Amino acid sequence: MGNITMIVILLAVYCCFWACAAIPIISSSTDEFALLAFKAKITKDPYNILQKNWTEGTPFCNWIGITCSHRHQRVKALDLSSKGLKGTIAKEVGNLSFLISVDISNNNFQGNIPDELSHLRRLRGLYMQLNELSGQIPESFGFLNRIQELFLYNNSLSGPIPPAIFNISSFQVIDLMYNFLRGSLPMDICHNLPNLESLNVSFNQLGGQIPASFSRCSEIKFLALMSNEFTGSIPGKLGNLSKLEQLYLSRNNLTGELPSTIFNISSLTILEAAYNRISGSLPHDICKKTPRLEILYIFANQLGGQIPSSISACRSLKYLSLAYNNISGVIPAEMGNMSALQLLHLISNNLTGGIPPQIGNITGLQKLYLSENNLTGEIPPELGQSSSIGKLYMKNNKITGEIPPSIFNISTLRELGLSENQLSGNVPSFGES
Ligand SMILES: *[C@@H]1O[C@H](CO)[C@@H](O)[C@H](O)[C@H]1NC(C)=O
Ligand SMILES: *[C@@H]1O[C@H](CO)[C@@H](O)[C@H](O)[C@H]1NC(C)=O
Ligand SMILES: *[C@@H]1O[C@H](CO)[C@@H](O)[C@H](O)[C@H]1NC(C)=O
Ligand SMILES: *[C@@H]1O[C@H](CO)[C@@H](O)[C@H](O)[C@H]1NC(C)=O
Ligand SMILES: *[C@@H]1O[C@H](CO)[C@@H](O)[C@H](O)[C@H]1NC(C)=O
Ligand SMILES: *[C@@H]1O[C@H](CO)[C@@H](O)[C@H](O)[C@H]1NC(C)=O
Ligand SMILES: *[C@@H]1O[C@H](CO)[C@@H](O)[C@H](O)[C@H]1NC(C)=O
Ligand SMILES: *[C@@H]1O[C@H](CO)[C@@H](O)[C@H](O)[C@H]1NC(C)=O
Ligand SMILES: *[C@@H]1O[C@H](CO)[C@@H](O)[C@H](O)[C@H]1NC(C)=O
Ligand SMILES: *[C@@H]1O[C@H](CO)[C@@H](O)[C@H](O)[C@H]1NC(C)=O
Ligand SMILES: *[C@@H]1O[C@H](CO)[C@@H](O)[C@H](O)[C@H]1NC(C)=O
Ligand SMILES: *[C@@H]1O[C@H](CO)[C@@H](O)[C@H](O)[C@H]1NC(C)=O
Repeated sequence: MGNITMIVILLAVYCCFWACAAIPIISSSTDEFALLAFKAKITKDPYNILQKNWTEGTPFCNWIGITCSHRHQRVKALDLSSKGLKGTIAKEVGNLSFLISVDISNNNFQGNIPDELSHLRRLRGLYMQLNELSGQIPESFGFLNRIQELFLYNNSLSGPIPPAIFNISSFQVIDLMYNFLRGSLPMDICHNLPNLESLNVSFNQLGGQIPASFSRCSEIKFLALMSNEFTGSIPGKLGNLSKLEQLYLSRNNLTGELPSTIFNISSLTILEAAYNRISGSLPHDICKKTPRLEILYIFANQLGGQIPSSISACRSLKYLSLAYNNISGVIPAEMGNMSALQLLHLISNNLTGGIPPQIGNITGLQKLYLSENNLTGEIPPELGQSSSIGKLYMKNNKITGEIPPSIFNISTLRELGLSENQLSGNVPSFGES
């Protein structure tokens, strides 16, 4: 080895000594600078957390809400949730380049989300829900290519959801509920979201069709699109989301039929699609493949057809409402086997025939609403066996005969509505509506 080589090596070691030592010092002072910039934008700090604790010249890794990486002494996590803070978010936060998690949820942060946050390329979780943030979700968030969780619910964000965020394959949870977001969801929404488990965009002003490509979010468990302005029909392809547990579609402008494929999803526990304009009828083999279904709300639509007797295969069903539709035919006697049922709401349909005595077998039934149909026959005394009924409504039907005394033996009964029928004898009513 020649002398020249030796000198070069020594020089390299010497340079590295300075460079390797100097870089962290410069960078952690960047962190301090950014944190003090963040502090400077806080206008209200009721517990004096930043005021007293975030003191310049003291080691910021000890400041409340800060977690540093051991190796580099760089800010890894910022957690100032529920501290009553008011102010705007300083754009310098985008310089805290080692951040993995930012949680400023449940405060009173106002103003825009700074674009600069998109520089945080190590970020896995961004929690800014329950604030007063306004403006748009930055387009540049599409660069947060390691992010797994984005919580922005309960703010005042407006404008479209930048399509680029649906291009981040690391995403697991996106919750944008309760904002003023407009526009539509991209038709290719799930082409690059192989890990998405939960998407909640409920209570916004989103419109357009529900993208059929949701069927490619194969890990999705929770999908909430409630209270928006979605139109068109529910894509039948959603039926291949084999891990879907909860699907919320209520309060939109959906039309077309309820796809029978949805009832192929054996993991489904909650299906809510109330307040739409869904037509057609319930699939004849409903519940045969969804034994875990607990909530089925399809009220206030335009469903016709009949209640299929296979609905009794929903052995876990607790809450069933098909009210305010145009369902005809009889109430299937098999429904008496639905032992988990607590609410049976069928008001305002076109049901005929008698009230099946088997309903009295459902011991946990608390609310039985059958008003505004065309039910005939007598009130089955067996209903008195049902030991939990608190509210019983059968108003405005064509029920005849006398009220069985067993009804008055239901100790839990608080409301009884039997008016506008053809009952004979004394017809007492208590409760309301
Ligand atoms: C800030 O609070 C932490 C944790 O309570 C404490 O260890 C630290 O000394 C405080 N720093 C200052 C400057 O008050
Ligand atoms: C930090 O962020 C601000 C604003 O985003 C920028 O002007 C500044 O140059 C950044 N860098 C450092 C080292 O503070
Ligand atoms: C979120 O906002 C909605 C609508 O304003 C409100 O009803 C709800 O209570 C809020 N949630 C929380 C946890 O504050
Ligand atoms: C998503 O990524 C693909 C491939 O990287 C790219 O072609 C497309 O333009 C991106 N879409 C958006 C909305 O950023
Ligand atoms: C559902 O179908 C799509 C094609 O439309 C496919 O890409 C996806 O992998 C399927 N999802 C599941 C969970 O099988
Ligand atoms: C959004 O919906 C999902 C279910 O789809 C639920 O788990 C989550 O709690 C909801 N978000 C909020 C803020 O309630
Ligand atoms: C949705 O339906 C409601 C009531 O039918 C209507 O007032 C509203 O204009 C509709 N919105 C869209 C986007 O179609
Ligand atoms: C899903 O449902 C459709 C229509 O009900 C049916 O034709 C299809 O065979 C079902 N697929 C699976 C995998 O069960
Ligand atoms: C309700 O269904 C009956 C058939 O059972 C049909 O004749 C009637 O037009 C429907 N009414 C509405 C409002 O859809
Ligand atoms: C109920 O059904 C009868 C017989 O099918 C039909 O004449 C009537 O229009 C229906 N009532 C409503 C409100 O749709
Ligand atoms: C009950 O039946 C009569 C006669 O079939 C029909 O005119 C009426 O619309 C029905 N009522 C309801 C609430 O469906
Ligand atoms: C269900 O109800 C029917 C009629 O009320 C009765 O004959 C039958 O024994 C009941 N079955 C059970 C399991 O309670």
